[in-house]
Amino acid sequence: MDRFNVAVDVVQNAGDLLRQCRLEDAEICQKTSHQDLVTRWDRKIEQLLRNEILTAFPQDSIVGEEYPPEAHRTGSVTWYIDPIDGTTNFINQHQNYAISVGCWEGSTPLFGLVLDVERETLYWAKRGGGAWQNQTQIHTSGRRELSELLLTTPGLQYTFLEPHPYQERMIRLSRKVRGVRCLGSVALELCEVAAGRADLFVTMRSSPWDHNAARIILEEADGAIFAVDGGELPLNQKSAVLALNTADLKKQILSI
Ligand code: IPD
Ligand code: CA
Ligand code: CA
Repeated sequence: MDRFNVAVDVVQNAGDLLRQCRLEDAEICQKTSHQDLVTRWDRKIEQLLRNEILTAFPQDSIVGEEYPPEAHRTGSVTWYIDPIDGTTNFINQHQNYAISVGCWEGSTPLFGLVLDVERETLYWAKRGGGAWQNQTQIHTSGRRELSELLLTTPGLQYTFLEPHPYQERMIRLSRKVRGVRCLGSVALELCEVAAGRADLFVTMRSSPWDHNAARIILEEADGAIFAVDGGELPLNQKSAVLALNTADLKKQILSI
C-alpha cells in the first residue's frame, strides 16, 4: 500500500465528513483560554485520521493536536496531523479552515497534504515532485522588492500584541511591506505563500502539526521556511516561524 494514496483518501473522507458536521452540535470548549478552542468535531476528525492511518500502517507514529502521541511504535515514519487548523474560523466563519497531514521518514519529508475544506481544494506535494493545488502546479511568487511583498501572519495577538523579542522587528517589517493579511490558519497561510498569493509568513507560535505538512508543499513550490531567527525549523518543537517565497530574501528580512 502506498502511504500517499492512502493519505489522499483519508483526508478527502475526513473533509467530506467535516463538511457535514453541524456547528450546533460542536460542543465548543476552551483549552487554555477563550482564544484557544476545541470542538467535538476536532476530536472526531483526529480519531478518524488516526484510525485509518494506523489500520493501514500500524508501525507508524502519529503526532496530532488533540491526543497524546502513540507510544511504542517501531517504524521510522511519523505523521503530523491537525484535524482542523483554524478552529476559530471553523466556528465563526465556517470557512478558511483546513485538514493538515504531513508524513516524514525521520527528518526526510515524504509528502504533505492540506485540504481547504470548504473550498474543496487540496494542496499537496511529494518530495521531489513539485507542489500542487488540485491538478495545477503551483510556485511561489517572483516578488523580491520589500515594498511589493504581502506579509501573512495568522495570529495577530501572538505576533503583535504579546511581548516578544521580535515584536519591534515585526512592526518595522509590517511598515515596509505592501500589506499585511491575517487568515487564521498556519497551514493555509503557508499554502498561500506556496501558491504565490502571499510572499512571506511570520508567526511567533506554531506547532509541528500546524506547519509540518505545509512546509513540504512550500519547499516544493520553491519557497523556504526557517525558525524566526533564520535557523533551521525543528521538526518536533513548537517554534516561531519565518517562511519566504525564496531563501534569497532571508538576509534582507532578518536585517530589518
Ligand atoms: C491555530 C491556527 C492559528 C494560529 C494558532 C494555531 P488551531 O491552529 O493555525 O491561525 O495562529 O497558533 O494554533 O488551534 O486552529 O488548530
Ligand atoms: Ca493548528
Ligand atoms: Ca487544530
